[in-house]
Amino acid sequence: MRKTVIILLSLLAFLPVRADEGMWLPALISQRIADMQAKGFRLTAEDIYSVNQASLKDAVVLFGSGCTAELVSDEGLLFTNHHCGYSFIQKHSSVEYDYLKDGFWALTRNEELPNPGLTVKFLERMEDVTAQVLKGYNPKKMDEEARLNIVRKNSEKLREAAVKDGNGLKASVEALYYGNQYFLFVFREYRDVRLVGAPPSSIGKFGGETDNWMWPRHTGDFSIFRIYAGKDNLPADYSEDNVPYRPKKSLKISLAGVREGDFTFVYGCPGSTREYVHSAEVDYIANVSDPEKIALRTTRLDIMKKYMSQSQAVRIQYSSKYAGVANAWKKWQGEAKGIRKMNTVAVKRRFEKDFEEWARGTQYEGITGQLANLYAARNPLYRAAEYYNETVRSIEKLQMASGRKVDPKDYYQPIDEETFVAMMKAFDGALDDSYKPEYFIEGRKKYADMERWKDAVFADSLEAKALATSLDEFYTKNLIPQVNALNRSINLANRTYMKAQMDYLRDKDFYPDANLTLRVAYGHVEGYSPSDAIYYKPVSTLKGIIEKDDPDIFDYNIPQELRDVYAAGGHDSQPVCFLATNHTSGGNSGSPVLNADGNLIGINFDRVWEGTMSDIVFDPEFCRNISIDVRYIVFIIKEIGHADYLLDEMTFVQ
Ligand code: ARG
Ligand code: GLU
Repeated sequence: MRKTVIILLSLLAFLPVRADEGMWLPALISQRIADMQAKGFRLTAEDIYSVNQASLKDAVVLFGSGCTAELVSDEGLLFTNHHCGYSFIQKHSSVEYDYLKDGFWALTRNEELPNPGLTVKFLERMEDVTAQVLKGYNPKKMDEEARLNIVRKNSEKLREAAVKDGNGLKASVEALYYGNQYFLFVFREYRDVRLVGAPPSSIGKFGGETDNWMWPRHTGDFSIFRIYAGKDNLPADYSEDNVPYRPKKSLKISLAGVREGDFTFVYGCPGSTREYVHSAEVDYIANVSDPEKIALRTTRLDIMKKYMSQSQAVRIQYSSKYAGVANAWKKWQGEAKGIRKMNTVAVKRRFEKDFEEWARGTQYEGITGQLANLYAARNPLYRAAEYYNETVRSIEKLQMASGRKVDPKDYYQPIDEETFVAMMKAFDGALDDSYKPEYFIEGRKKYADMERWKDAVFADSLEAKALATSLDEFYTKNLIPQVNALNRSINLANRTYMKAQMDYLRDKDFYPDANLTLRVAYGHVEGYSPSDAIYYKPVSTLKGIIEKDDPDIFDYNIPQELRDVYAAGGHDSQPVCFLATNHTSGGNSGSPVLNADGNLIGINFDRVWEGTMSDIVFDPEFCRNISIDVRYIVFIIKEIGHADYLLDEMTFVQ
């Protein structure tokens, strides 16, 4: 029985990409457009991406270092997520003006707040530069090192040529398909981006960590910024004389609403996926890395939670750190579970076996065995490196002793002491002594138990420094170089294996793994069944917020004003969030979610945790992205922000 399932699943790998999987390059979208149109899209490839005329790409920007945002007016107004704008909102906040707590709405352009360091990047163009990047490379005569040098030199030349006009131009050359293809991306970067509006956190973060990665969801996860430019509309440093940027294209906002089955697409910058890797890597992720990191983080979160629930001051100090630790912790749980449920390791093993039969006698013969050996050599080292990151580097005292910055305002020593004991015990217990510095092994003998060692480290800065330095040096000088060397070999083998898979499955449509370059994912609005006897509808409403509302639970305590608006009546069916089948990843936060006519219907901000294995394997049954409905944004701007004047510069369509 099990065997037939595996064979069947393995056969599925031979079929073209299944429903709604994939994150496609905008410049090559003409290869997908027939499928998009068959699924309901009413525009053309040129409407999505064009270098000759304004297209949707001109309304999408990379926001800061890892989010997406979109233009929603001809005066440079931007929508992104609340969690993407969070650190900027926080920087403007003080005890007197707590914009995180109370929200912020600039009443006039003069009140819009500058954010030094925040930039947005427009994609000017992207092009296949594989031939130029590999010019001078001779695979028969040159090794990987020589290839890397050539790639580096040629890429540098391409970048220089691409930005020679200045005016904020930036360029990068990115490897796709593990370096089987290279693309040049040319951006224009604007560096005067001001905060215009944000709802109170009790709306923008509604549900907090409790609801994070989950459905039903009711988070008003949006914030509003504006791009400013010089009088010539080109990038300029912050100046009072700057004027709102006039975009080539801005999005119209659809008030028509979403219904199950509606075509949707997400235009944004997913960060990192690994869809084509060897079973050994998936096995490591699902059965070693994820479970071990989850356990370590559970311990840390429990320690933080204990002290946070005892004191409001500690809760404020640690809420941002807690959110950071909890976010990946929760994602990994869904990922490991999803991979196991889909039997991905077995499916991939079977695939590798079939592949090797096909590859016999070709240049690809043996590549999967080679990869298996490389992973077998790398995984124990990589596991040790991950342990260092999750244990040693989670102790703030050791971070400070190593000269890294820890904000004393957000430091509470009892949490750190308890973390030290728990994490150092875990570190010592999980790793062989060959992964530990001499100083640590000596110290363990000297102190006999971790409590006593903790007392010494926290009482004596020399002891803290000596321990921190020895661990740091072992990690950076011993462990990481070995991991990197093996990773380079793995990368090289993956380049061959990727090419081999593309030759083997000639009929399959391959999309490149995500690498924070601009992508289009398309799908449709759809609910899902997370487990037996439960079905989740795809749209959540204000009624659900009121159901969750509880002044005694921090994550669910909404502003009184929202209660009042609701009590006044007529808003029961006000939509809040919706689910769709678009293939997204971290970095897609803030991405515009568009309908069949290319109009804005929502902003992407999350996935459901049962579908987070989509970074490795996509399951159309469980993989859903979560968006805030644009009509909820309009509702909050009006009813809570009383900032209707912002709506005047937007264009609404039915
Ligand atoms: N899970 C989303 C993402 O990966 C939202 C994270 C921010 N929200 C939170 N509650 N931690 O970025
Ligand atoms: N919240 C994520 C982000 O910041 C998006 C969720 C995901 O990983 O899909 O990009």
